[in-house]
Amino acid sequence: MIITLSSWKGGTGKTTLNTTLARLLADGGKKVLLIDLDSNCALSQVFDCIMKDYTSMQLLSGPLDSFDGVYRAGENIDIIPGDIRMSRLNNITDSQLKINLKRAGLVEKYDYIIIDPPGYWGAHSRNAVFASDVVVIPAACSRIDFAATRLYLEELRCCEVGAEIFICINCFNNKTNLPGIYDEYKNEFAGFVMDEPVPYIASLKKITGGQNFIFNPAVKAKLLPFVKQITGGQNA
Ligand SMILES: Nc1ncnc2c1ncn2[C@@H]1O[C@H](COP(=O)(O)OP(=O)(O)OP(=O)(O)O)[C@@H](O)[C@H]1O
Ligand SMILES: [Mg+2]
Repeated sequence: MIITLSSWKGGTGKTTLNTTLARLLADGGKKVLLIDLDSNCALSQVFDCIMKDYTSMQLLSGPLDSFDGVYRAGENIDIIPGDIRMSRLNNITDSQLKINLKRAGLVEKYDYIIIDPPGYWGAHSRNAVFASDVVVIPAACSRIDFAATRLYLEELRCCEVGAEIFICINCFNNKTNLPGIYDEYKNEFAGFVMDEPVPYIASLKKITGGQNFIFNPAVKAKLLPFVKQITGGQNA
């Protein structure tokens, strides 16, 4: 299964939730490949995998016969790191990643491929979305995230994206949410909003702090509904 967390605007929690998802799936014994498509390389920095000879840029542009860009990122987790030159690569078709993942034989090797795109709708995000079975749009309970989610969902529908789409309300906090907006999400985007929001969890800030992050069991319990709904309950 190929999963992308993607949004119309930056800073919604894509990299944090991608890392979380990867780690929880890997903890459950699943083989996970992370692909960093963001030139900021935030995901690659989490796993201390930066400035490598092979990156997601070669995965997109080839040649694939000599591609050697899969690095070990931990127990059951591999990563194809990002590339700070990525924004130069704009002349790619929207299906290039989908084609190249198959050509490189990566789809069969992993239970889950999780893609981390940049926080805007451009060539790299489109490649991530068009390669995916599931697209998750993280959004906070704020007016700007609501507006961005509306725009993004409309765009994805116009493009007739084949993936299953979820809206994940992230950083949910009754004290800081814009009053009433959670209900607005559920009313306007019925059928897309995930059953359980992901709460604000202070320790999730630390998830970007290294390879040895271990979930506190109480935090893990709060995150399991997110993982289960995305994977269709395939991860216990
Ligand atoms: N559920 C959460 N609880 C606490 N902090 C969170 C949560 N989700 C995200 N954050 C924090 O929000 C900030 C933005 O998250 P992140 O970098 O994952 O967003 P992003 O969408 O990947 O951003 P960009 O568009 O720049 O790639 C980070 O400081 C992260 O630690
Ligand atoms: Mg990010």
